[in-house]
Amino acid sequence: MKSTFPLFPDSASSLSSHVDALYIIWALVSVFFTILIAGLIVFFMARYHRSDPEQVGVEERAAVWLEILWSAVPLVVMLAMFAWGTRVFFQLYRPPADAVEYTAIGKQWMWKVQHPEGQSEINALHVPVGQSIKVKLASEDVIHSFYIPAFRIKQDAVPGRYTSLWFKATKPGVYHLFCAEYCGTEHSRMIGSVYVMEPRDYETWIAGGVGGKSMVASGADLFTSLACVTCHRPSPGVTQRGPNLEGVYNSQVKLADGRTVIADDNYVREAILNPFAKVVAGYDPVMPTFQGQVTEEQLTQLIAYVRSLGSTGSAPAGGTGGTPAAGTAPSTAANTPQTPGPAAPQK
Ligand code: CUA
Repeated sequence: MKSTFPLFPDSASSLSSHVDALYIIWALVSVFFTILIAGLIVFFMARYHRSDPEQVGVEERAAVWLEILWSAVPLVVMLAMFAWGTRVFFQLYRPPADAVEYTAIGKQWMWKVQHPEGQSEINALHVPVGQSIKVKLASEDVIHSFYIPAFRIKQDAVPGRYTSLWFKATKPGVYHLFCAEYCGTEHSRMIGSVYVMEPRDYETWIAGGVGGKSMVASGADLFTSLACVTCHRPSPGVTQRGPNLEGVYNSQVKLADGRTVIADDNYVREAILNPFAKVVAGYDPVMPTFQGQVTEEQLTQLIAYVRSLGSTGSAPAGGTGGTPAAGTAPSTAANTPQTPGPAAPQK
């Protein structure tokens, strides 16, 4: 019914029908109460109108049960709708653990997409059907908004931090990708296409692409070329100037000022661009900023690499080598919450 209803875009993701159901039921409930209340107003106007000019109004007292009824019923309806809406909201904003991470960087006026395998594309996003995909969003300039109507998802891409959304496409096809935040003169032309392909076709597409390095491999290269290795790789007998990054991702990090933070994407990003903001306990603030030296793409690659170094105890996947820094690194990575997460999918 919905697919033939011209006001609705295609319904092509695992959650689009949930969003539609919520929307339609909400609309029907609103229409029902609007008609009920408007109807009663008209009815009472007719029923209780003044029939002669001398008539004086009489004060009416509503029965207590009636007052309770017309307060309790809307309350229950509202709470039910709230609970349902919250459920859908959390489904929309919590990617499943098996989601593969892509990045999309907004820039006046295009979307630059990076695949975990290394492919990049502009104003296009190729994905396999049936695979949960998390899109990490960043912006190079102003606020953009990543919007795929057929999947019923929309999320701002904000300069200076990461946001994300996720979807699982359920129907092969080509769908609109829009920028849904006014971002300058050519905002209306900041559009693209999402190509949902059968997994076999997607494999062919990925294989036929310009052979780029995976996000993790590119990040590992940067880690060396930007000389991050000189301070962030443990070498026996040398006092380490920066924390060993193995096992740091998504762990709790104790800071010099006593705070504890989670080393998530936004934390790693800030550590690279603004190293003095959150100095790890036990280290001096000696790290230079890399502001202006790394692009948004390179930042996401570096973060993918740091994530590939895993949480505490897991083997490094990147290739910086080095033994776990027993005794050299502060025990910041203890009690790491092991997030199974989309840990650097590699082909
Ligand atoms: Cu980007 Cu509107």
